[in-house]
Amino acid sequence: MRVLLVGSGGREHALGWKLARSDRVSELMSLPGNPGLADLGPIVEGVDPNDVGAVAALARVHAVDLVVIGPEAPLAAGLADAVARLGIPVFGPSRAAARLEASKAFAKDVMERAGVPTGRAWVFDEPAAAHAHLDQEAGPYVVKADGLAAGKGVLVTESADAAHAWVDRCFGGDFGASGSRVVVEEFLSGPEVSIFALCTGTEAVPLAPARDYKRLRDGDTGPNTGGMGSYSPVEDLPDGLIDTALEQIIRPTLRQMAEDGNPYTGFLYAGLVLTDSGPKVLEFNVRLGDPETQVLMPRLDSDLVDLIESALAGAPEPPRWSDRAAVEVVLAAEGYPEAPVKGAVITGLETVPDDVLVFHAGTRRDGNRLVTAGGRVLDLVAVGDTIAAARERVYEAAERVHWRGMQYRKDIAAG
Ligand code: GLY
Repeated sequence: MRVLLVGSGGREHALGWKLARSDRVSELMSLPGNPGLADLGPIVEGVDPNDVGAVAALARVHAVDLVVIGPEAPLAAGLADAVARLGIPVFGPSRAAARLEASKAFAKDVMERAGVPTGRAWVFDEPAAAHAHLDQEAGPYVVKADGLAAGKGVLVTESADAAHAWVDRCFGGDFGASGSRVVVEEFLSGPEVSIFALCTGTEAVPLAPARDYKRLRDGDTGPNTGGMGSYSPVEDLPDGLIDTALEQIIRPTLRQMAEDGNPYTGFLYAGLVLTDSGPKVLEFNVRLGDPETQVLMPRLDSDLVDLIESALAGAPEPPRWSDRAAVEVVLAAEGYPEAPVKGAVITGLETVPDDVLVFHAGTRRDGNRLVTAGGRVLDLVAVGDTIAAARERVYEAAERVHWRGMQYRKDIAAG
C-alpha cells in the first residue's frame, strides 16, 4: 500500500521508519517530510500540511491508501475530515475531536462532564475578568492561551505580576487568535507522567509508557523545551497506573466525546500529574509525544499498519512490545529554545554506528551538506538489553556528531 505521512519532525521520522518496515507498505510518501524521511520514500514539496484541501487532493491524485497525520496543527485544521470526505482511510482525529488539544477550555468542559479528574479551571474572554480572578487567588498561577501555541502559550509562575502580564500577552495578540481566550487553572502538584493510547470511538488500548525530559539542561534546569530526550520502558510508575488512567481518564473521555457527537480516532496522549489524591489530567494532546515516539517505535514489535487498521476497523489491537529498552537523546541547536541558530553544518553522522538510529527533527540539505534547520535537530536512539546499556550506547554516538553550538543533556535516563 501507499502511505502518506504528514509532518516533518523527529516524531514523524520515527513513525515513517516504523511504517517503512511494514511488509504492507510499498511506498511511504512524506509531506513536508525531512532529509531523514527522504531516505525512506518520496517527499512532497510545496504543499502546506495545514492546507487541508490541497493535502487531501494530493492524496487522491497519488492514489494513497492510508494517510497518517503526526502533528496537531493539521488535525486541528481538519485534515482528517478533508481526507475522509474523499473516502481515503486516515488515522487521526477529526477537527471537532482535535479540540481536546486545540482548546483547553473545550478539554476542561469535556473532562468536567465526563467526571475525569483534573484541576479546576476558569475561562475568560476578556482581560478584566481574568485580572480580577487572579487578584483573588494565591499562587502558584497557571495561565494558558486557550488555543494551539506550539507549546509556548502556557505560564506556570509564583509571581502574580508575571501571571497578570501573561494575561495581557495572550489578549494582546502574542499568540494570535489562540490567545483571544485565556484559561486560568488550578496548580497541580506532583510528578508528571505521560500516557498514550490507541483509540477509536469508545475503545482504547494503551501504548508502552515513555518518559521525556522537558527542561533544557541537566538536573531539570533551564527553560522548558519540546523535550530533550526520552526512554522506555518506565519502570517506576505507580502500580496499576495505566489501568487506572484507562478506566478513569481515557475511556470516560472517549465516551463523552462520542456522546457529544465528536467520536475520537487516533493516538491520544494524556499528560497526568500524580497528585496526593490520585492522577489528574494536566492536558490532552491529540497526537503522539515528541520525543517519546522515537523510543516507542523501536520497541514496537507489532506492525504499525496493522495496529492503525485495527483502530480504523473499530477494534484496536493491543500492541506487542519488545523487552528491550530504548534511550533517546535530542541534539539541539545553539540558542534553542529561544532563538535556534539555523544553517550550522552537521558533521560526523557517518561515524554513528549502524545500530544507533538517527531521526531527523530539524535538518535541511544544502547541496551535499546537512545543516541545522530547527531547534531540535537530530534524535539519536539506542536500543539495549537494559536502559543502562542503551544509555551508554546513545551517548557514545552523541559524541561523534558535531556542529557549532550543538547542545544536549547528559543525564537522560540516568535514573
Ligand atoms: N513530549 C511532549 C510533547 O510531545 O508534547
